[in-house]
Amino acid sequence: MTSTEEDPSGDAAFVQLRGISKRFGGTQALDDVTISLVLGEVHAFVGENGAGKSTLGKIVAGLYTHDSGHLLVGGEEVGRWDPLRAQRGGIAMIAQELSLVPELTVEQNVFLGIEHNTLGVMKGDLSARYAELESQAHFGLPPRVKVGTLRIADQQKVEILRALARDAKVIVMDEPTSSLTAHETARLHELILGLKAQGRAVVYVSHFLDAVLEVCDTVSIMRDGRLQRSGPVAAETKKTIVEAMLGKELAFSFPERAPAPDVAATPVLVLDALASDGGVVDASLVVRPGEIVGLLGLVGSGRTEILKAVFGVDRVTGGSLTFRGENIVTSSPRRSIARGMGFVPEDRHKEGLVLARSVRENVSLAFLRHFSTFGVVDGRKERREVTRSVTGLQMRPPAIGLPISGFSGGNQQKALLSKWLIGNPQLVILDEPTRGVDIGAKFTIYEAIIELARQGVAVLLVSSEHEEVLNLSHRAYLVSEFETRGEIDPATTTLDALLYKLFSVLEPKENA
Ligand SMILES: Nc1ncnc2c1ncn2[C@@H]1O[C@H](COP(=O)(O)OP(=O)(O)O)[C@@H](O)[C@H]1O
Ligand SMILES: [Mg+2]
Repeated sequence: MTSTEEDPSGDAAFVQLRGISKRFGGTQALDDVTISLVLGEVHAFVGENGAGKSTLGKIVAGLYTHDSGHLLVGGEEVGRWDPLRAQRGGIAMIAQELSLVPELTVEQNVFLGIEHNTLGVMKGDLSARYAELESQAHFGLPPRVKVGTLRIADQQKVEILRALARDAKVIVMDEPTSSLTAHETARLHELILGLKAQGRAVVYVSHFLDAVLEVCDTVSIMRDGRLQRSGPVAAETKKTIVEAMLGKELAFSFPERAPAPDVAATPVLVLDALASDGGVVDASLVVRPGEIVGLLGLVGSGRTEILKAVFGVDRVTGGSLTFRGENIVTSSPRRSIARGMGFVPEDRHKEGLVLARSVRENVSLAFLRHFSTFGVVDGRKERREVTRSVTGLQMRPPAIGLPISGFSGGNQQKALLSKWLIGNPQLVILDEPTRGVDIGAKFTIYEAIIELARQGVAVLLVSSEHEEVLNLSHRAYLVSEFETRGEIDPATTTLDALLYKLFSVLEPKENA
């Protein structure tokens, strides 16, 4: 975005940067940057080191002045701008270089510079005010200890309390989590969401994109001093953000494989020489809890038919199908769902999702009986369960009332996956889960599949993109002519080796 373009959120913005540029000697730190900070929103600045994030924050907070462009606060263009004016204007920054006085106590630092605003605020009042701040932040810092004796993470908390004490409307946090533990980071995120709920704007500068995706509403992506784009986090994935930060497409990558399943656990699904009226001749396989098992074969090899036999779309005509220890003789999709199976079909638009309906309706459609007593739907239970399953898969935004058509392909697919988490299935069958979604959305689907396995669900996966099966599965079976033809180890099988097998060496099974 450039200064000459319209800035859609400009009107609602408390702080507007319009075409801001800043140079340090030979370095163009910022070049024509236009960004709006809206109250009640968490706004991420992301970019590689040196991209200009801190400079941007410092201009807002009055620590640097811009060379050209316009800075508006509360709708008015600022004239002279320095930290004190910024503070009075409702802006606070927690900089990377902390600005505390080591010899003073936590409490003194927190109120430094504001304790004498009204004539002689008494010490008791400060303590009461400190206690009030602490009740918001729950940092558990000792108020009377000298700041110089605290570790960096705790000093950072003092800075945050300072911003709170000044009742800042806009709080810029420049890489606040770089020295925090995971637990402290989680607390900070809660605090940020609390500040947002109070109607403040928080700028969150972070390299941790998972946190950005989780906590922020808006993201501005910087590269070499230029804004690449600024927009809703819901429209981004980790991959799209990284690509914008780097200015190039990433070589396609897969997330880390799901944790290895317990091989001693009782299998969820066992097929033994299964045959079906859908054409399956002889399928034998095992899927354990938390295990992702792939079926690898060429188009027309019978992979989808094996899935259909398992789910009860087709009838079993030979061999055996054992699900959760029970030998299944008669089956139907409805019975399979009741027994604890889920099936995400190949064409989700035709079979899976009703685009005009909300996420909530789409997710709960197959499971309304879970929320019903004598046919009456318990709306509260429905909302609670849908929210639980959707947040489990980190669907963004987790706004289950919105029509599903407004979500990205990856998030639509997540909605479909979350549908099968509601009934707490033991087995989820996925047929071509990434067909028709863009490359960025694929990654989020892979993460969702891995999350299913992590939660202990057994997953049976078919994909024509063999690399997906090789990179996601713990084990995989080769399928040819409607038969399983042995197993491969996906982690050690290359795509070339697989294709060679699929095209040339899949000889029919020897008759035993
Ligand atoms: N005070 C300064 N003096 C000189 N150069 C600076 C100063 N502050 C930042 N820069 C330069 O401006 C560019 C942007 O820096 P910065 O805003 O700190 O990036 P980021 O926070 O995204 O890592 C870098 O090239 C950096 O070296
Ligand atoms: Mg920085």
